[in-house]
Amino acid sequence: MDRVAEPLPVTQPDAMLPRVARVTRRTRELPDTWTLEMVAADEAPLPRYAPGQFTMMYVFGVGEIPVSISGDASDTSRLVQTVRAVGKVSEALTKLSVGDTLGLRGPFGTAWPVADFYEHDVVVVAGGLGLAPLRPALYQLQAERRRFGKLMLLYGTRRPEDILFRSQLERWRRQLDMEIEVTVDHAGAGWRGHVGVVTKLIPRLAVDADNAKALVCGPEVMMRFAASALHDIGLPEPAIHLSLERNMKCAVGLCGHCQFAGGFVCKDGPVMRYDKVRCLLGLKEI
Ligand SMILES: Cc1cc2nc3c(=O)[nH]c(=O)nc-3n(C[C@H](O)[C@H](O)[C@H](O)COP(=O)(O)OP(=O)(O)OC[C@H]3O[C@@H](n4cnc5c(N)ncnc54)[C@H](O)[C@@H]3O)c2cc1C
Ligand code: FES
Repeated sequence: MDRVAEPLPVTQPDAMLPRVARVTRRTRELPDTWTLEMVAADEAPLPRYAPGQFTMMYVFGVGEIPVSISGDASDTSRLVQTVRAVGKVSEALTKLSVGDTLGLRGPFGTAWPVADFYEHDVVVVAGGLGLAPLRPALYQLQAERRRFGKLMLLYGTRRPEDILFRSQLERWRRQLDMEIEVTVDHAGAGWRGHVGVVTKLIPRLAVDADNAKALVCGPEVMMRFAASALHDIGLPEPAIHLSLERNMKCAVGLCGHCQFAGGFVCKDGPVMRYDKVRCLLGLKEI
């Protein structure tokens, strides 16, 4: 299979020019969250991407927003992205039908450095929709399973009915030789799993902490506590990787909307090492 390891350069010549894509499939994940599968409208090959990267999705006449890629990077036949309707553009994206067209720029940004994790235990911590940007990394971990030590996925959502990619989680639990722990903030009748925030699961992890690596994605407050808890059990700060979100416009480091200390989240992120961003987490504008 054609694997993709290297992120694309962010300054492609046509980085500001959307290419037209067509929706080939839409899947309702949750009442407000849909996964779109897309191909280039002219049937040309789509740009290759690395797990963790995002595109700028443009609904004609409505606007453009950054959305992470949630599909398998080794499948170059289609682009897969999962969108939650929170406002004007995201809602319009979730309402696109099969056959509708949209604009796509990218992919942009840094990747989850999964290939650097060979021989190490890997802990993946996801909160809510944060599982979507992590799914390409999970596909890569799955494809190269034998190269890693223990794999653990800790996933937290508000309620059992908010669990994303539920059937895939079940499949991975069976096939992937990966420990998967799901926790919810508010359990309903019939829930037999963990209750409480996902960070509470971290102190119980049985990993070779000095040598383990971690990928974390979710609401920023959750990432702050998760990274700190991972560090508390012994993971070195540079071994912890987070995916940050900021308002974006250009996505190529020109407009300054996503400025983050001395850099830009669109160009130097979204995936960043904890030791580089620890002091800045929680600050909306720098
Ligand atoms: C690198 C990156 C990757 C992203 N990946 C994804 C993804 O995979 N799937 C996805 O659905 N979204 C993702 N987002 C978030 C997405 O870009 C925003 O939800 C979107 O910009 C909101 O635009 P809008 O026009 O729909 O809403 P707006 O009209 O801009 O906002 C509507 C309301 O939603 C709130 N809001 C805005 N952004 C967010 C947010 N990120 N989370 C919660 N509330 C928000 C606003 O404060 C406002 O109250 C990503 C963002 C970044 C920077
Ligand atoms: S979005 Fe313009 S600099 Fe990052």
